[in-house]
Amino acid sequence: MSKLIIEGGKRLCGKIEVQGAKNSALPILAATLLTGDSSVIHNCPNLSDVNITLNILRYMGCEVKKDGATVYVDSKCADKYDIPDELMHAMRSSIIFLGPMISRFGRARLTFPGGCELGPRPIDLHIMALRLLGVEISEKHGVLECSVPDGLHGAKISLSFPSVGATENIILAACMAKGTTIITNAAREPEIVDLADCLNAFGARITGAGEGVVIIDGVERLSGTMHTIIPDRIAAASYMAAVAATGGRVLLDHVIPSHLGSIIPVFEESGCTVSQRGNAILLDAPTRLHAVSFLRTMPYPGFPTDAQPPIMAMLATARGTGIFVENIFESRYKHVCALERMGAKIHLEGKVAVVEGVPELYAAKVAAPDLRGGAALVVAGLRASGVTEITGVNFIERGYEDIELVLSELGASIKKI
Ligand code: UD1
Repeated sequence: MSKLIIEGGKRLCGKIEVQGAKNSALPILAATLLTGDSSVIHNCPNLSDVNITLNILRYMGCEVKKDGATVYVDSKCADKYDIPDELMHAMRSSIIFLGPMISRFGRARLTFPGGCELGPRPIDLHIMALRLLGVEISEKHGVLECSVPDGLHGAKISLSFPSVGATENIILAACMAKGTTIITNAAREPEIVDLADCLNAFGARITGAGEGVVIIDGVERLSGTMHTIIPDRIAAASYMAAVAATGGRVLLDHVIPSHLGSIIPVFEESGCTVSQRGNAILLDAPTRLHAVSFLRTMPYPGFPTDAQPPIMAMLATARGTGIFVENIFESRYKHVCALERMGAKIHLEGKVAVVEGVPELYAAKVAAPDLRGGAALVVAGLRASGVTEITGVNFIERGYEDIELVLSELGASIKKI
């Protein structure tokens, strides 16, 4: 089992090239199944979740090659319409294959993804929407059996919550359905726009992605092409938090500043200077940050739930008290316990966390509770005095490419053993 060993207290300075977005890579790689053709996907991050996605494609019969950040997928020979339990359990997001499998094979069989480390993550919205598109779905002993007796057809689908995964699954299933699908209250995340851009390059006819109403006119067929994945806004926010926690300075290259529209003001309120230069952001942090009075997670364009843990760790040593409200996931405060062991003062009450800034954090042996909670502990470890040991590195590696190398380049004393 690997560990990250961090000797905190070093001011981080330098330049980072931000990795490709994990949350774009997963649906886009699943989309290659729709083409029955060769696709080339650039700027694919090297992450365990991406590798699981590639293994699912291989299991289905696709030819997959990886060359650095470029992935080649030929889905011509794909013929399996199930996902084995171990791959389904390795990554909850494998539910994103449901739409493409149904569209390509007219059927799909997979294990119900069930709960996960962020609390219960139901898929009722995915199922409701796919039924409206003509999919028959039954669930027995945790296995979902899906078939499309009369083919997929367009439908009007209104989501009660703008779920990212459900919006993606609908788009993926509806691309080659007969007729027009209209999604209202669709998720508006940049990763949805990236998926739609990729599918449109494959020949789909999708408009409105990134807005509340997405319209998909079904086409006969899609064909493979080339696509470049957008930069990862959550990785960018996490590295900004790491640098700001140490009073450092960083130039983040390969970012789309507008994707960080709700994140940059949080850094500014905490006393950092943030300037934008084309596709780069320069962040300059004071020695000690101010508390951010109120931070509430919301669907995009609101403040992202995925950035909440690292930003909370950053603000644990701010001057003053701030309030967090977590509106997206039930169990998204699992990092709090470990932060408290490191000296943070955080009071939890349901969705609300009150963070009373302390002057210092102290090193401890802690375990990453989940992906973004793990990033929070890295941020805390970089700020803390002494040597912090973080286990559960496998969670962190689901979302951050070579995190120890990226941070070492900035002057951190961090190694993986
Ligand atoms: C995606 C992201 C994840 C991010 C989340 C919210 C990927 C691979 N993952 O996850 O990093 O934290 O968006 O921005 O892109 N819900 C239902 N029923 C459903 C679907 C969702 O009740 O059928 C609820 C969930 O329990 C949760 C909320 O909706 O409370 C948001 O979930 P959703 O937007 O679907 O997140 P994911 O797509 O799972």
